[in-house]
Amino acid sequence: MAKQTYRIAAIPADGIGTEVVAAGRRVLDAVERTSVTELNFDWTEFPWGSQYYTETGTMMADDGLDQLRDFDAIYFGAVGWHTVPDHISLWGLRLAICQGFDQWANVRPVTFLPGVQSPLRKADHTELDWVVVRENSEGEYAGIGGRNLGARGRGSEVALQTALFTEVGCERIMRFAFELARTRTHKKVSSVTKSNAQQYGMVLWDDVFKRVLLDYPDVDTESVLVDAMAAKFVLQPEELSVVVASNLNADILSDLGSALAGSLGIASSANLNPERRYPSMFEPVHGSAPDIAGTGVANPIGAIASAALMLRHFGLDDDADRIDAAINAVTEAGVLPRDLGGFAPTDTLTEAIIAQLS
Ligand code: NAI
Ligand code: MG
Repeated sequence: MAKQTYRIAAIPADGIGTEVVAAGRRVLDAVERTSVTELNFDWTEFPWGSQYYTETGTMMADDGLDQLRDFDAIYFGAVGWHTVPDHISLWGLRLAICQGFDQWANVRPVTFLPGVQSPLRKADHTELDWVVVRENSEGEYAGIGGRNLGARGRGSEVALQTALFTEVGCERIMRFAFELARTRTHKKVSSVTKSNAQQYGMVLWDDVFKRVLLDYPDVDTESVLVDAMAAKFVLQPEELSVVVASNLNADILSDLGSALAGSLGIASSANLNPERRYPSMFEPVHGSAPDIAGTGVANPIGAIASAALMLRHFGLDDDADRIDAAINAVTEAGVLPRDLGGFAPTDTLTEAIIAQLS
């Protein structure tokens, strides 16, 4: 049988992004060698990021999206360095790809790993496992607004940052969340807004949620305000299964979730174009961590778990399960990186995960 080839664009970008993408690629090399499926990951690496910006004045090539369009997936590191303002680096690369390729569903599992101490005492004796589904195409990150309207002069500047909510955008992410909930043991969707204070966009969100849930009578639901949901993450996390929220709210909640699971370094993420008209992008949730970049201690688990999400997107569930099981075996054995209270450098941890695969 001919080998199935998957064409993957790697964009390591900045800081520890380069280190964790290298680790993830090593794990996927090992998957390729050890899989029962005949497969071949065909990599193309792109040099885009803050260094590229310094050299060229843009974060990615002008025709970057055209160069990426025909790949089966994008494997991304992290973007952000002190040489480029954060809003330029983020909009010039990561958001340009997410929005340009209509990757409207951002799936961010909150995974509690064995052998990793959670700051939540509840985690010691309760099964905790939920997933944040983030609307990834509009909301607070729509990029609509402006500064210094009417040239009011020094010290009197004004800025508008407008959130965009469309019925189509709300409905598709909610249906995605409900379909995901149906695949889980605990069939429940929690919808998050701040509709008491934000009476237009977020009330539209609530209205759409009330309409969509009628199509999923087999799934439990709740609507929770985002501040209360932050408390619920800490106090009643066992009640969560799928949490669907707008771009900003889900961004914040997913960092909280991964911190509760032990560290930002273990959080994985999939930016999906569910219609598969464009490539989807897989990346750890964390940023470029300039404070530890180059020291060899970055936790690669978030990036490696994101590689597993990419394999699921390819339909390679058995291989994705093998990666997840390898991560679990390694943390359970106490091989932990510094951010999880251990001493294992990036390379040691990556090699331990690879050893579990073969
Ligand atoms: P960050 O996620 O880079 O770091 C926050 C803290 O967590 C730091 O103390 C860092 O050392 C630690 N940390 C993060 N990932 C880790 C890992 N894998 N292993 C061990 N420790 C880890 O967030 P920060 O500091 O707010 O932002 C740094 C830069 O990254 C900024 O330029 C920001 O714009 C960018 N950023 C990019 C993102 C992306 O590309 N998706 C997401 C978040 C931030
Ligand atoms: Mg974030």
